[in-house]
Amino acid sequence: MVDVLIGLQWGDEGKGKIVDYLAANYDIIARFQGGPNAGHTLYVNGQKVVLRTIPSGVFQEQTLNLIGNGVVIDPVTLKEEIEGLKRLGVQLEGNLFISHKAHLILPSHRALDAASEHAKGKEKIGSTLKGIGPAYMDKTGRNGLRVGDIMAPNWDERYLRLKSKHMDMLRLYEEVPEWEAWEADFFEAINYLRSLNIVNGEYWLNDQLKQGKKVLAEGAQGSMLDVDYGTYPFVTSSNTIVAGVCTGLGVAPSRIGEVYGITKAYCTRVGSGPFPTELHDETGERLRAAGHEFGAVTKRPRRCGWIDLVALRYVCMLSGVTRLIMTKADVLDDFEEIKAATAYEIDGQQTEEFPFDICDRNVVPVYSTFKGWDTPISSCASTEALPETFKKYYSFVEDYLQTRIQFISNGTGRDQLLTLF
Ligand code: GDP
Ligand code: IMO
Ligand code: MG
Repeated sequence: MVDVLIGLQWGDEGKGKIVDYLAANYDIIARFQGGPNAGHTLYVNGQKVVLRTIPSGVFQEQTLNLIGNGVVIDPVTLKEEIEGLKRLGVQLEGNLFISHKAHLILPSHRALDAASEHAKGKEKIGSTLKGIGPAYMDKTGRNGLRVGDIMAPNWDERYLRLKSKHMDMLRLYEEVPEWEAWEADFFEAINYLRSLNIVNGEYWLNDQLKQGKKVLAEGAQGSMLDVDYGTYPFVTSSNTIVAGVCTGLGVAPSRIGEVYGITKAYCTRVGSGPFPTELHDETGERLRAAGHEFGAVTKRPRRCGWIDLVALRYVCMLSGVTRLIMTKADVLDDFEEIKAATAYEIDGQQTEEFPFDICDRNVVPVYSTFKGWDTPISSCASTEALPETFKKYYSFVEDYLQTRIQFISNGTGRDQLLTLF
């Protein structure tokens, strides 16, 4: 079976930490979408590591890791990541596999991302500028280059053809970064990529499944950044919900088992776009400070607010989440009052449905309010120690979402996790 773990908000829910923990029970961890826009943080022996394209199972020795065809790969970032892990003593030669159908991010994709964002001015998406959007555009536009193409005798010619197309496009923009200097690193990294385990990902994975191996698919970004169901156009360019697993790895829907959905005990978003429960006040600042809410990749301050149950119920429906994981519960330890949005009020009308367009409308969240807890969650070593006030809060979330919470995360470390069932 393929179990799946996805973020249920706008990313950064703590996927890296949880996958690193769960990986002990799996044979294979597989990334199915996104690319180096992701930043998944793990703490291993007190050392902080941020993974971008590599699955978060690499710190469990027995686990194999697959970068699936749905991922877009920047060879430069991938090489840096592998070298960084080597310095930490993690040898990836034998246990990292890359689908030959994964698309490549070219230096000119990064340039196009920057040029397009600059041209959008105030309307910009707030992209991580890693070339994600332009690379997926070339994939669906049927111009893209894939990992397998680097082995072809006419690779150079194909690269130049796509580069020239990009140069024509870049001429339409006023502000373009000096990107051609990035090519030297790119070619060096392509050479390096040739030495890695490039596989026919879908056959490889289905063979493993046939042998009875257990697979965990690791999502990147969050469900509210999904290109179809997120807050379009302020989204990423891939399907971040569970449906993305089948196309991004080549596994049949009937193979999907448990679906773990992660939410923070509150909510954050980085980049532009609507965020109904965002707090622009001192409480928002307190959340940012207590949760160290700064981007793992871009270091941008994350926007902070209360948990949004309307959005969460929507995405639980889309992905059929079977188990919830609540992270960063400890961040709320010092708050006297905690809120959860249970409906939106739009033009005087209340709704519990996520609306078509919340970009240009005034959405006022309707809140339920909870008393803060006097025992810090960070100090609870077992579920029995959890205060009643906190239980009221998380039970309300479970009832609203009609899904049980399996784990409560109360710190950054692998073992700071309370198991409810
Ligand atoms: P990801 O992209 O979903 O993997 O999440 P990020 O790594 O971008 O951001 C999550 C941040 O929260 C990281 O800095 C984690 O170390 C941290 N984190 C994860 N779980 C917890 C938790 O339960 N409590 C606290 N205080 N921090 C956590
Ligand atoms: P992880 O996997 C949070 C956001 C960007 C921007 C929008 C589009 O660490 O949770 P893109 O670079 O994809 O074109 O950016 O999506 N974004 C993320 N926000 N966590 C992420 O990944 C993100 N990946 C992209 O900030 O608003
Ligand atoms: Mg992140």
